Amino acid sequence: ELLPVVIPAAGVGKRMQADRPKQYLSLGGKTLLEQTLAQIAKHPSIGEIILVISPEDEYFGSLKTLDASRVTRVDGGTERVNSVLCGLQALTNKGYQADQWVLVHDAARPCITTADIESLLAIREQAYAGGILAFPVRDTMKQARHNSGPSIDTTVPRELLWHALTPQMFRLGELTQAIEQGLADGHPITDEASAMEHMGHNVKLVNGSPTNIKVTTPSDLDLAAFYLTAMQA
Ligand code: C5P
Repeated sequence: ELLPVVIPAAGVGKRMQADRPKQYLSLGGKTLLEQTLAQIAKHPSIGEIILVISPEDEYFGSLKTLDASRVTRVDGGTERVNSVLCGLQALTNKGYQADQWVLVHDAARPCITTADIESLLAIREQAYAGGILAFPVRDTMKQARHNSGPSIDTTVPRELLWHALTPQMFRLGELTQAIEQGLADGHPITDEASAMEHMGHNVKLVNGSPTNIKVTTPSDLDLAAFYLTAMQA
């Protein structure tokens, strides 16, 4: 059975301070977006790819390596969560059923490995509403008193803290419903799991590789290039 993937790529990448959205910056001879797509598409269990792109996007048309038989472009929304919802609705419109497992993966995470996708897919056999790739926090965690000129309020116990990554995998119907409810409630939704948690669903933390970074700043781009080379060696 092939699983569909939604890839939100409708952000502007302000923190990159580049002349174009970060997904179109050059990484290893392709764009960042094309690298991410290539990594995702090569997993044998991945089927259709819904690529969520801003309606104002000027760069998408110049991409060269897209497989049009697998990739569908869908218009994105104002925040990541809105873009993901657009992608999920596209899958429903294409006839996917509510119990269909679906992956959501950030366009900005090109260093996703086949092994990590495999670990995530394996939880379909277990009693969870879905799961996310993640890894345990290693540094000592401090909570600031306030945002500006921060001084420390307290040290947060790190034993229970994980970094949330993507892909995240849930059933199409439950995830769509959770996001719609979260938006209606004004609940902050920064990843798919946060919407599912809000609904009380049990979400599995799947140990993934810390090298699956989200490219956010210029130095992340260099790091991603390094990891990609290492992955292909
Ligand atoms: O900005 P950030 O790196 O957190 O965005 C994560 C992912 O969500 C990126 O791949 C970005 O393109 C996407 N996004 C989106 N629609 C938005 C904002 C972000 O698809 N409105």
